[in-house]
Amino acid sequence: MTYLDQTAGLDEVRLAPANWTGFARSDLQAAAGAWRARATQERRSAAVFATICSGLAALELPLSVLAAVARIVADEVRHTAICRRLAAELGADAPDDDLSAAERRLRPPKTGVQEAAVSLLLVEGALGETISAAMFAATRAGAREPRTRSALSIILRDEVRHARTCWEILAVLPAAARLDPERLARDVSHELGVVEMTSVLPALKRVEAGDLGTPEDAELGLLPPLKRAEVFYAILERTIFRRLRPLGINGPSAWAARYRPSA
Ligand SMILES: [Fe+2]
Ligand SMILES: [Fe+2]
Repeated sequence: MTYLDQTAGLDEVRLAPANWTGFARSDLQAAAGAWRARATQERRSAAVFATICSGLAALELPLSVLAAVARIVADEVRHTAICRRLAAELGADAPDDDLSAAERRLRPPKTGVQEAAVSLLLVEGALGETISAAMFAATRAGAREPRTRSALSIILRDEVRHARTCWEILAVLPAAARLDPERLARDVSHELGVVEMTSVLPALKRVEAGDLGTPEDAELGLLPPLKRAEVFYAILERTIFRRLRPLGINGPSAWAARYRPSA
């Protein structure tokens, strides 16, 4: 064993033994696909938080802030490892680690490192992790298969902390690092549109086509499509709009402008 063997910290992760018996092959394949997609998402989160970390490292911030962000990077790497492990056990192909789709978000043209970091902290960190924590909570609530449930529990526990950490950092950023609320509102608007288009509307299409998911799917950690839409709209109204207000961002206006081309 080398030091690198421990990078993913998987040794510390205790996942409950699996009980895949009683599930149809097609259900297990669907669960494998979901873990594979989560692995890609988590790998992307690791890159996002590493970028946030490097941007914030140049600012005068309490060490506790830098430590909290560094911890999130390590968590996301561990989440990637957990999701890959479940995907592999269920027979999925190796996950796609291509980060090119995230490239524009990670290194937006004509934007400084710190500016990009603060925007990512709000959009991907605070917003993204709040939505992700709510989705993981709803998914875990329906998951019955023990290995699935234990993996989702580990990830959920961290995602809740990530969301809180990001909102808290935004509140203590030094004035010099704060971005213009108008610019942030545009970023929020764009991101909410992207999440709705890529995740919520496809779920609503499934519902319209009469596909509500099955109890077996839910037991294996697949969120029923109607639940996905419901969770997204509820978290938006109940949490996100309220949290944006102290940052000088009008959530409902940002939401209403999500498909308006930005100037
Ligand atoms: Fe994560
Ligand atoms: Fe996270």
